[in-house]
Amino acid sequence: MFEPEKFVDESIKQLQETIDGPTIIACSGGVDSTVTAVLLHKAIGKNLKCIFVDTGMMRKNEPEQVSKMFESLGIPLKVIDAKRDFIDALHDVVEPEKKRKIIGELFIRIFEKEAKKVKAKYLAQGTLAPDWIESGGQLRDTIKSHHNVGGLPERMNLKLIEPVRDLYKDEVRRVAEYLGIPKEVYSKQPFPGPGLAVRVLGEVTEEKIEIVREACAIVEEELEKAAEEGKMKLPWQYFAVLMPIKSVGVHGDTRAYGYVISVRAVDSTDGMTADYSHVPHEVLHKISIRITNTMKDKVNRVVYDITSKPPGTIEWE
Ligand code: XMP
Repeated sequence: MFEPEKFVDESIKQLQETIDGPTIIACSGGVDSTVTAVLLHKAIGKNLKCIFVDTGMMRKNEPEQVSKMFESLGIPLKVIDAKRDFIDALHDVVEPEKKRKIIGELFIRIFEKEAKKVKAKYLAQGTLAPDWIESGGQLRDTIKSHHNVGGLPERMNLKLIEPVRDLYKDEVRRVAEYLGIPKEVYSKQPFPGPGLAVRVLGEVTEEKIEIVREACAIVEEELEKAAEEGKMKLPWQYFAVLMPIKSVGVHGDTRAYGYVISVRAVDSTDGMTADYSHVPHEVLHKISIRITNTMKDKVNRVVYDITSKPPGTIEWE
């Protein structure tokens, strides 16, 4: 039986015994890195240096929300605007693994710069068990290289600190609740490290990121509203994906040629396997109308993904 209280006490003790210098952590605002930051803040206080890299690939209003949340937790957070760097680095890149590698590398470069500035000796990460299992850390083949795993310690000459690496999502959420982290954070659905870049299939452009960001916001709002109204249970994860194709549609009497959005909603406990959610048709209808109305000249078709994992994965890339 997993006991959050025992886990926290032991973690803090272990972190205090291990760490004897400045420790840098990249915070995304997600539950994994937030729990890691709070544990470290409790264990080592001022020796913890939190940075938030604004990749431009985050969800709507997310950078502002993350800054506010850290302020409320009383943990200093340095925000680094790297939007231009990420979009430029992804120019002309189509292949999903290549995208992930490029994003990971750029993160490392930004870390390196910041780590040098604070003379960091350790790098902390909110890696969970499924992250390293799926990145080929055990017996399984590499399914996707999750960007927060692999290659960091050798290249950076920093010691890696991963206090939640043996936990699964449901366990890290329980730890968050125990630590007094706001409910919006630990009940927030998971979000991939490479962000919206892996929800724009194929080449990433600023325009496509804006489209998928807006579509994700609509999917989130509508499903959360439907769940609040008792029309359905809130799925484990729910978002939009932008297809790398255009299709023909019609606006009034005019032919339209626009992008296709796929809505994805899954039920899962740990992300290792997942079933597609049975979202009521009226809710899907509303999502479709809102997406095509909000982005009339850009999106003219919305589809729903009815694939479970396996054989699909949750994200499309
Ligand atoms: P997949 O798509 O592999 O996703 O079925 C399983 C869960 O992991 C999330 N995911 C990531 N999380 N870094 C992360 O921290 C990543 O690179 C990454 N890729 C996928 C995904 O959103 C789902 O919850």
